Amino acid sequence: MDKKLKIITYGCQMNVADSERMAGLLKAIGYSLTDDIDAADLVLINTCCVRATAEDKVFGQIGRFKALKRQKPALILGVTGCMAQKEGADLLKRAPHVDFVLGTGQSSEVARVVQSIELERKHVVDTSNVSADIPSEVYPLRGGQVSTFVPIMYGCNNFCTYCIVPYVRGRERSRKPEEIIVEVTQAVAEGFKEITLLGQNVNSYAGGMTFAELLAAVDKVAGVERLRFMTSHPKDLSDELIAAIAEGVHICEHIHLPVQYGSDKILRRMNRVYTVEGYLRLVEKIRAAIPNVSLTTDLIVGFPGETDEDFQETLDFIRAVEFDAAFTFIYSKRSGTPAAKFDKQIDDATKHSRLNELMTVQNAISLDKNRALLDSTVEVLVEGASKTDDKIYTGRTRSNKLILFEHSSERAGDLINVKITQAQTWLLKGTL
Ligand code: SAH
Ligand code: SF4
Ligand code: F3S
Repeated sequence: MDKKLKIITYGCQMNVADSERMAGLLKAIGYSLTDDIDAADLVLINTCCVRATAEDKVFGQIGRFKALKRQKPALILGVTGCMAQKEGADLLKRAPHVDFVLGTGQSSEVARVVQSIELERKHVVDTSNVSADIPSEVYPLRGGQVSTFVPIMYGCNNFCTYCIVPYVRGRERSRKPEEIIVEVTQAVAEGFKEITLLGQNVNSYAGGMTFAELLAAVDKVAGVERLRFMTSHPKDLSDELIAAIAEGVHICEHIHLPVQYGSDKILRRMNRVYTVEGYLRLVEKIRAAIPNVSLTTDLIVGFPGETDEDFQETLDFIRAVEFDAAFTFIYSKRSGTPAAKFDKQIDDATKHSRLNELMTVQNAISLDKNRALLDSTVEVLVEGASKTDDKIYTGRTRSNKLILFEHSSERAGDLINVKITQAQTWLLKGTL
């Protein structure tokens, strides 16, 4: 019998990659994907707990299934991922209609657990081994058609004082280069043109070669038209890596390099192990070696102990760097992390007003950066029709900027040249 599976994925690209692997495992026991929740026999909610807002969304989503489970008792509901790892059995206390909870290290058990529940309705909770990875033989059921993710390492050793990720993803483990190359080759054979190598600290890769060597090796895989990687930590962005990006053929000129903050005092308290000066020097080196590079970052406001002075320093800092774009977050207290116990926690009103100010400053910079591209011609990888208008197609520049253009005969996966005619803060528009 054909059974239907719906996966709802929250959080980062690593969770997307995990969901695709779980879908692959479940396909082998007769489940095919559906978008229709009402038609599903099995629903997986793959969760994130990086900020309280992420957890609230997940709890809201889980709650929505209470009524559906009453109407359709045979429906199996599973919660996986980072929040499952963090909450474990407590999740069942709060939501007894959930059938199983599998932590991040137990994703590869998903088919076995579902089969056991099909036979006998019994709650299953397993968060036992946070560092057990999905075996490389597991074939992912990839979403999308142009661009896909290949995890190269899992976990994090950095313990930034605000961050829950090291606790829910375990220590760093790198996959073997051969396995990565095999997976990239398979993805290309499936028709994917763009590969993004993934890791919580992708440039700390240590699978028997350096990350720079791995990038150069993947760059040579036939059919890889574009190669990206994320997320890089400034402490491991070596000269060798900068040179590899500069020399690569398909390696895109974009580095997502989270700085998190722009004052040494706060960076120290965050345990980020670099200084403002060090980061600025790194940016200079990158821009000297890779002239067209696009730099994006993550920033957190409202970290405990942040003063107006610290915040002004951060504004000066982002004005000095001129990032192409920044993801800005309000500090969220994560219990179990060191910063949750730091004194001088910042009140919500201050956090929100600082976030607004930061976004206003950065948005103006992003707009200026995009305006500087007006009238230039860029290479675009076509993604497909836009959501609202099928005559307008979307694509990405090598610098990872979203671009809209009027469609004539291009197809998803084509590489085309587009002349930029309009620049906005978050997107570009152009003509062929
Ligand atoms: N390993 C990556 C991604 C970590 S999570 C990295 O180091 O960049 C993605 C982003 O979430 C982080 O870069 C950080 O800016 C943000 N983040 C992590 N913990 C947070 C917290 N407690 N509150 C607010 N933002 C947080
Ligand atoms: Fe979290 Fe820091 Fe690790 Fe990134 S490097 S996952 S922010 S602890
Ligand atoms: Fe969230 Fe886990 Fe990714 S906490 S950001 S889904 S590693």
